[in-house]
Amino acid sequence: MSDAPAAPHERELEGEENPIRDHAERIMSGGEIGGIQKATHEALLRVIDRVFNDETLIVNFKGADIRRVAMSGNIIAEIWRRIHGDPEMIQLLTIGDTEIPPFMQRTVERIIKRAHIFHMDAIREGKTGYDVAAKGTEETRRALMKFLDRYYGFSEQTDRPDLMKTLTKQTCVVHGGMTGLDYITAGLIQRADNKGAKHNFVWPSNSFGTWPSIANMRSRNGAVADTHIIKSEQKHGLHLTPEQVTTYYKEHQPAPGKTTSWYITPVGNPSGTKITPRQLQGTCEAIVKNDPEAVIILDLVYLRMLKVEEARALMAGIVGNAEVFNRVIVLDSFSKTHGLCGERAGLFFSANPDLFTDPQNVMMLLTAGVSKQTDCLERAIAMSSDGEIAKFDKLHEFWRKEVEGLYYYLIKSGEFKHLFDEDQSHINEAGLKDPTNLYLCLKLKNGVDSKQILAETHCLGVEDGRMQPGTYMRFAVGKIRQPTFAKYAPKKPAST
Ligand SMILES: Cc1ncc(COP(=O)(O)O)c(C=O)c1O
Repeated sequence: MSDAPAAPHERELEGEENPIRDHAERIMSGGEIGGIQKATHEALLRVIDRVFNDETLIVNFKGADIRRVAMSGNIIAEIWRRIHGDPEMIQLLTIGDTEIPPFMQRTVERIIKRAHIFHMDAIREGKTGYDVAAKGTEETRRALMKFLDRYYGFSEQTDRPDLMKTLTKQTCVVHGGMTGLDYITAGLIQRADNKGAKHNFVWPSNSFGTWPSIANMRSRNGAVADTHIIKSEQKHGLHLTPEQVTTYYKEHQPAPGKTTSWYITPVGNPSGTKITPRQLQGTCEAIVKNDPEAVIILDLVYLRMLKVEEARALMAGIVGNAEVFNRVIVLDSFSKTHGLCGERAGLFFSANPDLFTDPQNVMMLLTAGVSKQTDCLERAIAMSSDGEIAKFDKLHEFWRKEVEGLYYYLIKSGEFKHLFDEDQSHINEAGLKDPTNLYLCLKLKNGVDSKQILAETHCLGVEDGRMQPGTYMRFAVGKIRQPTFAKYAPKKPAST
């Protein structure tokens, strides 16, 4: 037997519980597709149709359509692997999850080992109690700020020499970005309540899919807070603009019984697009000008995938403007930038104690602090050597090439003109040469759906109908472990 680690699809088949295998076997045992012998395009269409219309899956995944599409894709790939024999034939690009490619293995192992050493040291020193401050250890928070400074440019703010110190104090280490968003939403509602006001959450339709779920759940669908969605426009890269902010405030003027927060993701999910520094600065300035008491939640989980100089340029107008930065709560996470989704490692921070206190209180109330594992892991990441940081830059470049190649395969080849809208103007083609994040989001032609895209392109993404007009499909490359689509992009001209 080979010593090589099993490929992900093989690993999925190892355990006793394997819903993908079980569903595949159940569906194959039925008459409709059980007899397929030859892997023809016609046969693939039949498999896709059978799985997407499977009653058991429809019932089991009621209300969780994205999960059903992802599961259906896995089952189709498994059935097709059995018929066709090629596990790579179908590319499942639905879930924004990550699996690190083999060239990252040793670097990630080194970081995990370092985290274990920190953890063992703490245990040896008898530090086994609760994280009583409920924001992570000071050592970790200090290391985090030093690490983030490279991308955010805190220490350059000569008008605020204490900024790094303040942020170290007002950082909360949390079990992943989603948990951080939950504490932030609950904290903002609590803060409004303390002021005898009702909170209002505003966000663009191009927002992380879990965000509306968290905001709506915490708002109890309007009972304790209001929500408002602003339509993302293709011509602005699907990001908010200063004009949209001004229009919003013309219709919803700030009032004493109301507090407002804006949720903004400068490097977008699902869009995969990056807001320009000018657009971000203008948008945040417009918020503060119209509503000096507004809170801006900047979800920056993808910031550190950009080149350092680009990340700095994006942050310059925000961190550099004390008035704006004082209204900001930043969310960050290592799930995507470090391919560590399963570790649950994130943080939030604010330079303003008034914005930091309530979410941090929620964290304290609900959890009595972060786990030692997460604290030590975040310290280990933050203390990465230059060589380790360079390795993660390579990971981001690996994903960039996959996104770019996928764009060339699906759009520039011209092979799938009948599936994708001619207007993909939210994508800046030149920008595909720089790392952004894990996603390619394409506008579909009217009436085209996941099944057709899968049958013809062999790629399965997730449909998103929130960014009207039209339907978009987000493809995520984080689970690709070997170069797959990169070959479709033109080679960079050789430098002279
Ligand atoms: C924009 C955005 N924010 C936050 C998260 C949450 O990440 P995690 O909870 O894994 O840290 C994600 C994950 O996909 C995301 O895309």
